[in-house]
Amino acid sequence: MVCSGLRVEFSLLMNIYLETFGCQMNRLDSELIAELLRVGGHTMTDSAAADVVLYNTCSVRDHAEQKVYSRIGRDAKAKAAGRKLIVGVVGCMAQRAKADLRRRCPCVDLICSPGQLHRLVGLIEAAAAGKAAKLHIASDPGRAEPPDQEAQRLLEEVDRTRNPLAAPSASQAFVRVMRGCNKFCSYCIVPFVRGAEHSRPPQPIYEEVKKLVEAGRSEITLIGQTVNSYCYRQGDSAVRFGDLLEFLSPIADLRRLRFVTSHPVDFDRPILEAMRDLPNVCPYIHVPPQSGSDAMLAAMNRKYTRGEYDTLIDAAREIVPDVVFAGDFIVGFPGETEEDHLASAELIRRTSYKNSFVFKYSPRPGTQAAKKLADDVPEAVKKHRNNELLAVQREVGLAHHRSYVGRSVEVLVTGPSRRCDKQPAPATADSMQLMGRSRGDHIVIFDGPRSLTDQYITIKITDANDLTLFGEMEELQ
Ligand code: SAH
Ligand code: SF4
Ligand code: F3S
Repeated sequence: MVCSGLRVEFSLLMNIYLETFGCQMNRLDSELIAELLRVGGHTMTDSAAADVVLYNTCSVRDHAEQKVYSRIGRDAKAKAAGRKLIVGVVGCMAQRAKADLRRRCPCVDLICSPGQLHRLVGLIEAAAAGKAAKLHIASDPGRAEPPDQEAQRLLEEVDRTRNPLAAPSASQAFVRVMRGCNKFCSYCIVPFVRGAEHSRPPQPIYEEVKKLVEAGRSEITLIGQTVNSYCYRQGDSAVRFGDLLEFLSPIADLRRLRFVTSHPVDFDRPILEAMRDLPNVCPYIHVPPQSGSDAMLAAMNRKYTRGEYDTLIDAAREIVPDVVFAGDFIVGFPGETEEDHLASAELIRRTSYKNSFVFKYSPRPGTQAAKKLADDVPEAVKKHRNNELLAVQREVGLAHHRSYVGRSVEVLVTGPSRRCDKQPAPATADSMQLMGRSRGDHIVIFDGPRSLTDQYITIKITDANDLTLFGEMEELQ
């Protein structure tokens, strides 16, 4: 059987459970993995019915890794009690913690780094057939080693030949424009586990978006760890991210073009102008500052100052109508003083983010910060600062969302609201609580028939809280 241009043959058909941790890169990888497995004749299932459990893992904070160790601990007990199970660790932790996994987790049968996903099906097959070595491993080269060009070619094939109907939503899909990261923020593990930055050529990106849109996925989100650093060079010319938006925007029936996550340094004027001029590019920018203090930004190796970040936000406000911002912050980075912390709180107020993610600093082995700086902010202080930033964010989030009351927004309906997911639909199928997203990425809640799922509709906003808009249907578009 041939799958995605890669040869896959199976002697055994298995029930496979795949659990995903981490960011949008892992979510897309999991979609592609599940499809490779399905094409191979396997069945995706829940954990109770599985012959194979796969964890697509994240290493960005220790907490993310501990969750996976606890899943593996549970599987080890089940295996010890006689359950026949293949356990696989895929993704960033497979690259970062393979030595620990080998030592601590004898129940793990296979380990597959993020740059080796095209080999995963073969690893599962080998593990199922009980071949040779007990542990089956496919690893990426380290940052100091030459890149594995054949692996990069095969991985590109997996993206290029993906089945557009496999995207979990009928109206939305992710498209990768770049891999890896070269920024080396001092706290961050990503450049070590995802390898060097590599931008895909524009043409296969175009073909992929077109194929997905033709399959009904009219909202496309371009993804990369620093998506706006995209730069494809050929000879003397370079296609940068603003050019890529211009290239993709005219695709017929592409109603919304989004992108995450942006790095402040590479957010140039052409991107802002593309956002202003191209009607389907959504006015939403997730541009994490990490801190509002120059001392912290320098220690984090973020390569911009607070003043430069403010200038970017002001330019975006001036150029892109109705622009909406989201941010990430790290609290308790080594040496963070109360004054540094207050600068972050002040930045949240100044920028008026729609939402912010706040993380307590977690030292990652091998990073510059972990090697050189003592993790000297006590856990209780980190917790307190985390809560303080979240409280400030709640305030500005409320003001931001309230400013939409009385306005009408276009919403792509994603389905029943989370409340309806938890409880059975309250009334008839003609009226239930639905949820959708505005062009600015606001969560919008309203009542309507379930059949509106995956459609665009205009909602008049009547109320708001710090994270959500509430409204009433105006018309179907
Ligand atoms: N590429 C994105 C984000 C990558 S990781 C960017 O550069 O903006 C997602 C978020 O996790 C980061 O924005 C940062 O806020 C947080 N993060 C990364 N490493 C961390 C660490 N060691 N401790 C705590 N938070 C971390
Ligand atoms: Fe990590 Fe910095 Fe790269 Fe983002 S830009 S992935 S925070 S190293
Ligand atoms: Fe985590 Fe890997 Fe993404 S470390 S944040 S899953 S790139």
